[in-house]
Amino acid sequence: MSHGNATRLGRSLSAALVIALVATPGHAAHGPPLESTRGAVAADQAVASQVGAAVLADGGNAVDAAVATALALGVVNPASSGIGGGGFAIVWDAGARSLHVYDFREIAPAALDPAAFVVDGKVDPMRARQGGLAVGVPGEVRGLAHLSRRHGRLSWRRLVLPAARLAREGTPTSWFLAQAAAASLPRLPDEASFAPLRALLGGDRARTRGQRLHRPALAATLLAIARDPEAFYRGPLAEDLVATVRAAGGVMTAEDLAGYQVVERAALVGTWRGLRVATMPLPSSGGIVLLEALGILERTGLELARHGAGSAAALHVIAELLKHGMADRSRLLGDSDGARAAAAALLDDVRLRRLAARVRLEGTAPAASYGESPGGGGAGGGGGAGGGGGPGGTSHLCVIDGEGNAVALTTTVNLYFGAKLVTAGGVVLNDEIDDFTIDPAVANAFGLTQGAANLVAPGKRPLSSMTPVLVLDGDRAVGCVGGSGGPRIISNTLQAFLNVWLFGLDARAAVEAPRLHHQWSPDKLQVEPEVAPEVRAALAARGHQVEVTPLPSAVQVVRVRPDGVIEAASDPRKDGAPAAP
Ligand code: GLY
Repeated sequence: MSHGNATRLGRSLSAALVIALVATPGHAAHGPPLESTRGAVAADQAVASQVGAAVLADGGNAVDAAVATALALGVVNPASSGIGGGGFAIVWDAGARSLHVYDFREIAPAALDPAAFVVDGKVDPMRARQGGLAVGVPGEVRGLAHLSRRHGRLSWRRLVLPAARLAREGTPTSWFLAQAAAASLPRLPDEASFAPLRALLGGDRARTRGQRLHRPALAATLLAIARDPEAFYRGPLAEDLVATVRAAGGVMTAEDLAGYQVVERAALVGTWRGLRVATMPLPSSGGIVLLEALGILERTGLELARHGAGSAAALHVIAELLKHGMADRSRLLGDSDGARAAAAALLDDVRLRRLAARVRLEGTAPAASYGESPGGGGAGGGGGAGGGGGPGGTSHLCVIDGEGNAVALTTTVNLYFGAKLVTAGGVVLNDEIDDFTIDPAVANAFGLTQGAANLVAPGKRPLSSMTPVLVLDGDRAVGCVGGSGGPRIISNTLQAFLNVWLFGLDARAAVEAPRLHHQWSPDKLQVEPEVAPEVRAALAARGHQVEVTPLPSAVQVVRVRPDGVIEAASDPRKDGAPAAP
């Protein structure tokens, strides 16, 4: 793209957009959500939402906007996502009235030997978190190109160029990126493999908010991808990626990259009070746990709305739902035939009724009793080690366009800055291998203890918590939800969903309301400091081990009101802001 074109693009960008107030970090005072009748984009970085809104303004549809937004996100916030990672997308095609699900999750390389994570007879979990062994084969570029080809209206090049321009011209470092850099830099090993990330983080001192982030090498890579997305998977860019991984102890090959495949899957569809809830099947656990929680709640007969959003009764019940779903996740789910059979049985009506009968308004039960084997009967298993994990490196975006097409897309490099490796082409590589079970007795970085179905093995996709959701009323998309933050994705997406479709909050109030997290193991109910002291005390009185802590995660919500107005909100916890054409 010539500089003249870039400048014109920049001018039309700013002229065409109505941009929501940029939220400040933390819990902003509630204002109205962004409202539009021409479509809206909610990403967790304002600049990326604006890129998507400009695509809509140019005549692009929701898929075009989602692809361009995802690419821009990876440039402005390399802590959370990028073309070195992977993701999932749910698409509602309003014209064809059809749902589509795309899995562009990373894959364990063919030569990955699970024994490589054992050092002197002990599992070394850091090998799954940083360095070459941590990197899964990235699916992001083929995934986004596939989305564009299948559903897009504008050219692929038009969708990639804004990201290339952001990389070349630079963007101010966001509050979120600055804190991610400050958290990551002191922990970065002083080894040559990690020197490129050290430079990206700011060198000796972590980059600060507002400091311009230029990524010229990535700009060149994106320009090559704009010409042909296959350039990422074959030729010099692929050789650079494989060399970076192998120099850092990994085993990925050119064949792994060339052979990567996007998978089109059947959507996992549940119901909620007459609406259809379309979400991600395995290899994500997120959709299954979400639908399990909603299915149990509907069958309890409890009228949580009477107690109110944020009430002790509501938060208690939500925690109980999560404990059942997350227990099942830990014990049963993964990328395996056995897990696929188990997952189908988890949402069985009779089973959900049995679990619903165990959810009480007042008390909790021993951790081992949550969830149950799909055939019925006892629970087995139980709480394990774990800590709760860091903030994670994932990003969720929602788009609904003026014609009713909708996309929920979640993309990730796993932990902040993934495996801490950056290719010569400026690509930050994921560490998705830590989402596998490396050893059932060893928790991953998010404190998740996971089962045998998710054991690391060549060719498998690691179990994910990403939970992209579209809500359908008959043949109309009326909502999109999803989030970031490791297992908090599931708990936070559930709460944002219920805030809108149970408690009746608008999109912004739904996103900004204080939240909780429970992942069954450890048996700990985490609540944000904004949850009122008397509510915390009431939760403790019900038997929860309450921990007051910030919950680093971010949800985005777009919903269509009954009057046809589209509301959009991005999470202030991550500096997000939505945009409309
Ligand atoms: N890497 C986060 C997830 O997929 O759950």
